[in-house]
Amino acid sequence: MREQISLIGSGQTRFSEWWGKGIRDLMDEAVTSAIDSSPITALDIDFVIVANMLGERVNDQAHLGAIASSLLPHRPPALRTEAACASGSIAIHTALSLLESGRAENVLVIGVEKMTDVSTSEIAAALMGAADAERDAACGMTFPGLFGLVARRYMHDYGLTRAQLSLVSARHHRNAVSNPFAQFKSAIDPESVTESSLVADPLRLLDCSPVSDGAAACILSSKHASPIRFAASQVSTDSVSLTERPFLTSFPATKDAAERAYEEAGIRPTDIAHIELHDCFSIAAVINLEDLGFADPGRGITFYEEQETTPTVNASGGLKACGHPVAATGIKQILDVSKQLQVSGQRYGLAHNFGGVGATCCVHILEHTP
Ligand code: COA
Repeated sequence: MREQISLIGSGQTRFSEWWGKGIRDLMDEAVTSAIDSSPITALDIDFVIVANMLGERVNDQAHLGAIASSLLPHRPPALRTEAACASGSIAIHTALSLLESGRAENVLVIGVEKMTDVSTSEIAAALMGAADAERDAACGMTFPGLFGLVARRYMHDYGLTRAQLSLVSARHHRNAVSNPFAQFKSAIDPESVTESSLVADPLRLLDCSPVSDGAAACILSSKHASPIRFAASQVSTDSVSLTERPFLTSFPATKDAAERAYEEAGIRPTDIAHIELHDCFSIAAVINLEDLGFADPGRGITFYEEQETTPTVNASGGLKACGHPVAATGIKQILDVSKQLQVSGQRYGLAHNFGGVGATCCVHILEHTP
């Protein structure tokens, strides 16, 4: 990073089904709590970035930059970012660029998604906007279906068993039990995952992140310091269609973004104490651990076979148990890594967020200096 940029405020709604609240209400709640937790006032914010994927299609609402800006008394300049499920971390990356350029000093970044007002089939079709409309969606694919193909191929290549895969969601649900912002706070055992209803073979209900409403917000500053600063922010992309991938068991955009992030921060994977990674489906968590450099190909599941791991993985409960209001997720991950570093006193944490089947990937590294 060219500038010292700190995380000086953060807040979120609980991720849940919020039938009585609109997009504006969710943003307002997260923004109010972010400002209240910061050393600045609303009037000190000189730019707003809001991440959202589905506003037009699900909520009949575009133009969210101006709506987000109207939550502040002085209506600062604002824009919206969209990169499917990576929308939130793209917003963070954009905010860091504004701060590095000197165009802004205190940027409010918001991620919001309201998904539960429509049926499961409607939301599944809307989410397919993150895939290739001509090559993947046209043949009837859904996201559980796309990741089902990935899981089947991974099981074929590496011998991962159904019982092993069930360890992933069981761990993430267990981690969420004490998280007040999580959509699901009940522990589940691996057998319940294996026996839950089939969604897209071999993936079952409890392998899938849920459909969720929620917002998360944070304030990034080049003017005010805090114990948490950004050590790296990297974005990488890959083909959106799975038909153009030479293999399905690894996501090159994650590898590329991670390698560049470690280089930017001047650290190695072994320096990372906490990871929040994109477990939209259980198989993604296994592959992400390998692509981020924490396990050899085919060995990611070993993280879930051990009781405790270094680094910790999705100690918040991840997308699986916290919920996945898609554009809010990347920002919520930053909040979680920051909290984990401040509790443990460790130095480095990593947030990994992707859109589509790893077609846009962002890796952020946070540094804690108490
Ligand atoms: N994990 C745990 N519980 C879940 C769940 C999930 N993913 N999805 C739903 N549930 C629970 C509901 O709370 C409900 O519980 P209740 O009966 O106690 O109220 C029950 O399971 C049935 O819920 P329902 O809404 O009828 O499920 P559904 O069959 O309509 O939807 C999925 C289930 C898996 C299809 C849906 O959650 C889904 O599409 N997930 C993936 C979302 C996605 O693709 N995101 C983008 C990722 S890239």
